[in-house]
Amino acid sequence: MIRELSKNEVSALHYELVMKDIIAAAEKLPPFPDVAWKLTAMIKQMAPVSELEKIIGLDPALAATILRLSRSAYYGRRFDVRSLKDAILLLGNQRLLQVVISACALRYFEKGGAGPGERELWEHSVATAIISEIISRKFKKGRVLTLYTASLLHDIGKTILNVYAKIYMQSSIRRMRSEGRCIQVERMALGIDHQELGGIIARNWKFPPEIIAAIAHHHDPESGPFWEIASVVYAADKLADEAVKEKGQTRENPLDPDKDMVFKNLGITSKIAEEIKTEFAGHLAGVKKMLE
Ligand SMILES: [Fe+2]
Ligand SMILES: [Fe+2]
Repeated sequence: MIRELSKNEVSALHYELVMKDIIAAAEKLPPFPDVAWKLTAMIKQMAPVSELEKIIGLDPALAATILRLSRSAYYGRRFDVRSLKDAILLLGNQRLLQVVISACALRYFEKGGAGPGERELWEHSVATAIISEIISRKFKKGRVLTLYTASLLHDIGKTILNVYAKIYMQSSIRRMRSEGRCIQVERMALGIDHQELGGIIARNWKFPPEIIAAIAHHHDPESGPFWEIASVVYAADKLADEAVKEKGQTRENPLDPDKDMVFKNLGITSKIAEEIKTEFAGHLAGVKKMLE
């Protein structure tokens, strides 16, 4: 017998189809280049500079981005980096790996055509990564590279979800999203949110479990494993939003670290949050130049 589907059944079917489509798009993303992990292993084994150079040089486009980032005021600071060899010798292992991971990650943010939305998202991701590095050093929390990678890619789910958001989200929903209720709104409109999708992407990329957890729980860090790493990403994310906020711009839900449980658990008071923002502001001009 044929019967007409109820409104609820139609919307359940719609959710299922949209969600399947979104997850399929996430699974089609090219694998994350393993050059950074290869380099980490080679550095541990004290491989010669020429070998490190050879591995980076295997992907000329990536090597060019690595060189460009290495010359930036933020990563290169006081060095005059003229070649890959200089980058390897002068930046130091930690900075070199951060540059390599940034160059790898940039590809996924550019794939949407680097429109204003993608650019803004990339800038926000870099700011979050740098602030997480500041928190990590200040509080001796987590490994810098783990936090840097998780923070840089915390919103990776948005690179896919944004495409669907443009199709399915009404303007009122878009407004709610910009007011900070993005997780609820995305789930309501698309059946999945960007942190869950980010977790799926990080799992497909075979990232370490602490990075997967931090990406998948960065809006609700205490709901998953590795809560401390996810909490740093959460705090860095919020502080990055605050730090790049236009002067005089107000928010619907302004950040108050003294009332936020995650900030409290990390020991980041309003005063410390201000210090972190000031330290980041010192890097901001260099970071902006690098992103040009
Ligand atoms: Fe997010
Ligand atoms: Fe974010």
